[in-house]
Amino acid sequence: MTLTKTAGLGVLPNAPPNVLAVTNRKGGTGKTTTAVNLAAAFAAAGQRTLLIDLDTQGHCAFGLGLRPTPGQLSAHHLFADAPPTLAELCCATAWAGLDLVPASTDCRHGRISDDDRILARALAEPAIAERYDQILIDSPPSLDHLLFNALSAAHWAIVPFVPHPLAGEGVKQLARVFFQAAMGGNTRLRLLGVLPVMLDTRIGQHRAIRAQVAEQFGEQRVLGGIRNDIKLAEAFAAGQPVRVYAPRSRGQHDYQEAFETIETCLRTHGRDHNAPL
Ligand SMILES: Nc1ncnc2c1ncn2[C@@H]1O[C@H](COP(=O)(O)OP(=O)(O)OP(=O)(O)O)[C@@H](O)[C@H]1O
Ligand SMILES: [Mg+2]
Repeated sequence: MTLTKTAGLGVLPNAPPNVLAVTNRKGGTGKTTTAVNLAAAFAAAGQRTLLIDLDTQGHCAFGLGLRPTPGQLSAHHLFADAPPTLAELCCATAWAGLDLVPASTDCRHGRISDDDRILARALAEPAIAERYDQILIDSPPSLDHLLFNALSAAHWAIVPFVPHPLAGEGVKQLARVFFQAAMGGNTRLRLLGVLPVMLDTRIGQHRAIRAQVAEQFGEQRVLGGIRNDIKLAEAFAAGQPVRVYAPRSRGQHDYQEAFETIETCLRTHGRDHNAPL
């Protein structure tokens, strides 16, 4: 399947979309699996959803069964000279209500402009605000301008972590980046939650690390965990959200529960992103 541009949805101007960055300074913590499956859950719930892949590994497209064509415009073209609009980069996926801005796999991080607000400005395009309810950003683990762009554009951060000994360190390093993003002008950024993934509560170390993270961020910020489930990896390889590939799996059950918690939090806080905390 190749990527095709979406037609404009022609909806009336609305409250601005929620922008959620899925992020962690550590690699391999389930960021992309979380971004793809939460985006699919939002779309399945009838929310007009855009997933933006800022990671040059380009895994979101694979996870959604898409193969960018040579010369395909990508999220990384936003950071080039004479960039296209973000609306020009949105591609339909096979799932109703879910669009993707794919990553460029040949973009060199060192060549990215040092302006950390490029994505924030692109998301303010009226065409994007009119077209989507929810925008999720999959971010790279590297400490670079792509990560700062993700955090400068987001209202909320979701931080998946694997309950291994270095998890606390990765989350601590991210907290420093949060602070820098806030100092750089994004005072709206809030931590929606930390999400344990590949969790096995029978393992003492997993319970201990989850407890440490809960102590650090508050129990109410720890989202229900995602258990270890090979179906999540299989679904990714098959290019399908787990809700489609294995609707009765543990992975689908856990991501649906996490989605419901996140949705409730977003509904409770509304979409007035300028409201005081
Ligand atoms: N709950 C889970 N159970 C089993 N396997 C999982 C689970 N979550 C993720 N995986 C697998 O773990 C690997 C890493 O996941 P993923 O690619 O989502 O992490 P990431 O944080 O995006 O990595 P990177 O930092 O490289 O971008 C993948 O092979 C994925 O299929
Ligand atoms: Mg990833």
